[in-house]
Amino acid sequence: MSATIDTIGVLGAGQMGGGIAQVAASRGLKVLLADIDRAAAEAGKVKIGKALGRLVEKGKLTAEERDAVLARIEPVDSVAAFASVDLAVEAATENIELKKKLMIGLDAACKPGAILATNTSSISITLLAATTKRPEHVVGMHFMNPVPVMELVEVIRGLATSDATYDATIALATRMGKLTVTSKDCPGFIVNRVLIPLINEACFALQEGLGTAADIDLGVKKGLNHPMGPLELADLIGLDTCLAIADVLHQQLGDDKYRAANNLRMHVAAGWLGRKTGRGFYDYGSR
Ligand code: CAA
Repeated sequence: MSATIDTIGVLGAGQMGGGIAQVAASRGLKVLLADIDRAAAEAGKVKIGKALGRLVEKGKLTAEERDAVLARIEPVDSVAAFASVDLAVEAATENIELKKKLMIGLDAACKPGAILATNTSSISITLLAATTKRPEHVVGMHFMNPVPVMELVEVIRGLATSDATYDATIALATRMGKLTVTSKDCPGFIVNRVLIPLINEACFALQEGLGTAADIDLGVKKGLNHPMGPLELADLIGLDTCLAIADVLHQQLGDDKYRAANNLRMHVAAGWLGRKTGRGFYDYGSR
């Protein structure tokens, strides 16, 4: 394994992958950015450029620094271009079959010894590692949304994850300016084991008519001093992601207390996925 991580590959140029690429490049790492095709990777880089542009407008970054960060991010056609990376992080949709397929692809593309990290928010690292020929080099690296703002990275060791892989992952997260917590490989890990039941309970409260969405959110925001209410946070995360995690918790922990509220499932069925589609529990206008 490389002693230091200088180049990373990010698979997924959406909300999470784009944020990871932005933060890594801001900390001096070279980033190869891949998605379903080159156009999607290029579009992800354009969004990162806009986010960095807002920092320039606020005087938090100079135009030269923005250009230097962007120059370190290279959109590529596919993970076939990841042969040189020291670590690849997968940040695709929360779907077990998709993530298994992507881990197999990363295993084939990356050099021996490269670390394969997954940004999964609930799926077993041990299970994903077992799809590869290098389970000792597979680790969970769970970033929070929005990645440039949130301080935490949750690091998850699978059964086979080596100490060297774990140490290198902690070192990378620290270099990216993040605090880390370590979780056992158990559905939802620490953060989502706590957060998703909170969001789901807010969905039940709404469907039972305890209050309006605005009142439920204001109650939690001001009554518990949370930065956002659970329903608006669900809209930020994506209701499809929240539902996928709730289903993993329910199926794998086997306790009905984790069953998803029907209104969460129905919002997803309707395609009302939150901010990214312009409508979730709130209406954000057309996107
Ligand atoms: N990207 C980059 N920067 C962003 C951003 C984004 N998407 N959204 C907000 N920011 C920045 C703003 O530019 C602003 O920066 P400055 O203070 O330097 O000007 C700062 O964050 C605060 O933003 P705003 O003033 O616009 O709004 P706010 O004060 O209401 O903060 C928030 C917005 C940071 C999102 C805040 O409401 C918050 O912390 N919410 C909770 C978010 C959270 O809980 N995330 C974890 C979700 S769980 C998860 O991700 C795990 C999972 O698997 C589901």
